[in-house]
Amino acid sequence: MIWESNASLAPYNTFGIDAKAERLVHLESEADVAAYALHPDGLAKQTLLLSGGSNMLLCADVPGTTARIAWTGRTVVRETEDHVWLEVAAGESWHETVRFSVQAHWGGLQNLSLIPGLVGAAPVQNIGAYGVELADSFDSLRFFDWTRQEIRTMDAADCGFGYRDSVFKKQLKGKGVILSVTFRLTKRDHRLQTSYGAIQDALASAGVAPSVESISDAVMAIRQSKLPDPKVLGNSGSFFKNPALPAQEVTALAELHPGLPQYPQADGTIKVAAGWLIEHAGWKGKRVGNVGMHAQQALVLVNYGGASGPELWEHAQRVQASVFEQFGIQLEPEVNLIG
Ligand code: EPU
Repeated sequence: MIWESNASLAPYNTFGIDAKAERLVHLESEADVAAYALHPDGLAKQTLLLSGGSNMLLCADVPGTTARIAWTGRTVVRETEDHVWLEVAAGESWHETVRFSVQAHWGGLQNLSLIPGLVGAAPVQNIGAYGVELADSFDSLRFFDWTRQEIRTMDAADCGFGYRDSVFKKQLKGKGVILSVTFRLTKRDHRLQTSYGAIQDALASAGVAPSVESISDAVMAIRQSKLPDPKVLGNSGSFFKNPALPAQEVTALAELHPGLPQYPQADGTIKVAAGWLIEHAGWKGKRVGNVGMHAQQALVLVNYGGASGPELWEHAQRVQASVFEQFGIQLEPEVNLIG
């Protein structure tokens, strides 16, 4: 357990915002987590639990204690002829874990290649891309409960997964920390999801058949062509959620705006593409000072360099107000605002 005072959080958030943590502690093992929970400057003074920092906007310096999830490790815990159960520590890189599974020819995570962040945060918002969600390959996770100071194992039903949603954003918010996630991956008869148009096109133009490996490669190529690399241009992926609206409202809207992309949901609502709304409100690729919505994907808020949290948030609110004015739709941030 390593402690720092007045530490810059710039290396630990993908917007690259230089906010300061009054105290920063690096938790490097599960034993550190248990010790941290009892330490006088630890959990009792915690204001922020920091994972990969790929889904948060730091709007101010962080007082008290910031704890960084930094324990790692991957273990095959069970195996049959058809499946393998891979337990991954919360501090492992998500993408490296996906590539590790792809290189072993295990199926399940390939569509989720190149999503930034760490494994422990993935269940919190049930990360998803290209027609697949974490929940599809999820077996269970281990959760350290701060109040009871004990570890409990949770299955998918306990986690209450939804669209970018889980129990960790609701009843269990701030109540503990995910220690590890176990995935159930296929060794054969892989369920390959290629229905997302761009994947099929990418496979066809490369002249390759769908496989765990080729889908992972295609997703990486698609993401690299549309989404900015946080190491080059600070961002946190989609800044807003795609809003799910009542079908009637969408029908009325689509009469006025025939190009509006729509995705009917199982519950009868229709999700509309927030990126399209932002583009058609005129914000795509438009830079305001150090910030703007990305030129290839209008849903991605970017820091062109040196932007502060409040500057980024101001711009997000500007875009939000403009979309509301033009379409009557209130966009909600997908990213967590801190401070
Ligand atoms: N679109 C535009 N203009 C834009 C961006 C998008 O018209 O600037 C249109 C596209 O043409 C398409 C539709 O909007 O018809 C959807 O766009 P895209 O396929 O790029 O996906 P998205 O809905 O904008 C979601 C996820 C992404 C994920 C992609 C691919 C959310 C909030 N975002 O974006 O996730 O990678 O689908 O599956 O659901 C993230 O969560 O950080 C993230 C990047």
